[in-house]
Amino acid sequence: MAKPKVFVTRVIRDKGLRIVQEFCEADIWTDELPPSREVLIEHVHGIEGLLCLLTDQIDGVVMDAAGGNLKVISNHAVGYDNIDVAAATARRVPVGNTPGILTDATADFAFALMMAAARRVVEGERFVHLGKWKTWGPSLLLGADFVGATLGLIGFGRIGRAMAKRASGFDLRVLYYDPNIVPAETGLNAIPVDLETLLHQSDFVSLHTPLTQETYHLMNGENLAKMKPTAILINTARGPVVDPQALYHALKTGQIFAAALDVTEPEPLPMDSPLLELENLIIVPHIASASVQSRDNMAYLAAQNLIAGLKGERLPNCVNPTVYRQP
Ligand code: DGY
Repeated sequence: MAKPKVFVTRVIRDKGLRIVQEFCEADIWTDELPPSREVLIEHVHGIEGLLCLLTDQIDGVVMDAAGGNLKVISNHAVGYDNIDVAAATARRVPVGNTPGILTDATADFAFALMMAAARRVVEGERFVHLGKWKTWGPSLLLGADFVGATLGLIGFGRIGRAMAKRASGFDLRVLYYDPNIVPAETGLNAIPVDLETLLHQSDFVSLHTPLTQETYHLMNGENLAKMKPTAILINTARGPVVDPQALYHALKTGQIFAAALDVTEPEPLPMDSPLLELENLIIVPHIASASVQSRDNMAYLAAQNLIAGLKGERLPNCVNPTVYRQP
């Protein structure tokens, strides 16, 4: 029997790739860079399944280019703001994502960024490499303290809660703001508050929200101005949750102490971005989930979603389950 045709938009880890290749006739995009929109549209023609990355914009045009045989879109990420889910639902195409398995890796990394920004690790490293280290100094590169400080989590889903868990080991007081969850007994020492209170009281503000119309530029000039001048902002969610111009202003003028970004708007950040001039900003290339196990498991779950969709089975992780209820 002929294997179902799929397009895989990048080489994923073996743990997922092997099963995709076993079960499917897979067209795998092997370049380092994502396929251009034109190439994507060309390659999806006639496919039954698409395994894509957060760098691929999948909208109704791409889905129509695939045609009526398209049975599943599997995103190799927990976030799926790169996919027009409403368009997929309208075409009765289930969309899969990879929640859960990257929670710890992402929270570990957000915590690492928070500590690095607070204790000026990257600045210190640059200082040494630039030959500025002349002697030990009582006031050299002083940073922020952790014990007794307040961590404000914007978004209290899986990753936000994993941050709260880590924070307890550092004796941090934890506040959270999440309009999408009913405050419940989580077993975590975290206090639900409104956004205003969180921004005013937190020494560290860490973003763990999906990118939606409501969260686009949530950290704009107005909200950054509500943070303490000693506060530190961490973003491991999605770049556009922070307004980059407002952040530049806040860091440049000392409105906040420092920031650390795993995600930026746009990605990659152009080399002429003024953000790159700032000493009090750490920027890394969207690698919070980049641990070996986490990326192996993301590839595996993305492959499982893809194959379930091709078989006409319910995806292990489907973001638009209403497709199964449509007549
Ligand atoms: C995701 O999965 O959404 C992350 O941003 C990349 O791992």
